[in-house]
Amino acid sequence: MENIKYGKLVDFVHMLIKQSYSDSDAHSFVDATCGNGFDTLFLCRLAGEKGCVKAFDIQAQAIERTEILLKSNLNFINYELIKDSHEYIGNHLSDKIDAAIFNLGYLPFSDKTVTTKGDTTVKAIMNLLPHLKDDGRIFITTYITHDTGYEIKNICEFLNSLDNSVYNVLHINLINKNNTPPELFIIEKNA
Ligand SMILES: C[S@@+](CC[C@H](N)C(=O)[O-])C[C@H]1O[C@@H](n2cnc3c(N)ncnc32)[C@H](O)[C@@H]1O
Repeated sequence: MENIKYGKLVDFVHMLIKQSYSDSDAHSFVDATCGNGFDTLFLCRLAGEKGCVKAFDIQAQAIERTEILLKSNLNFINYELIKDSHEYIGNHLSDKIDAAIFNLGYLPFSDKTVTTKGDTTVKAIMNLLPHLKDDGRIFITTYITHDTGYEIKNICEFLNSLDNSVYNVLHINLINKNNTPPELFIIEKNA
């Protein structure tokens, strides 16, 4: 496995997912905010040809960018790109999933006023939890900058309320960095 920097949270999340879900070639994943498609591409590669990735975004531009990236890097189609808010994620899932990534905030190189929001993100997480397999996990990378921390506060409050006999919730911070570094939350089933 490549030697990535744990402090780069996006790479850290990919490393954890790769380590936990490399055992089969038919995994089922969700990218709750596909954006430029980098997380979706990672998940599609790991899911394998027989697996399945459902990727969501509210912006047509994000869906288009993701589709271009996937088409030019994969020689199979194991994905569905869904232009809908992730709060309605439950309407699009029939089977249980292994893992989901939320990479919050705004679409880089685009309109920075279109961002994820605490209330809809919490609804999305709530609606996703019943779809997790017993070894399922949700990885949520959050940023303070787009709304001065309101979304993180909403997420923290909700995650604190989760039953600890059913879920483990981790909160990972880079404690020696200036300029409001991202924070990572991981929810895993405690089954
Ligand atoms: C930081 S970007 C995601 C980066 C992406 N995972 C990647 O690898 O490039 C955040 C994305 O969340 C999307 N977004 C905002 N609100 C959303 C919602 N309610 N449902 C789904 N996507 C949303 C934005 O349009 C934006 O593209």
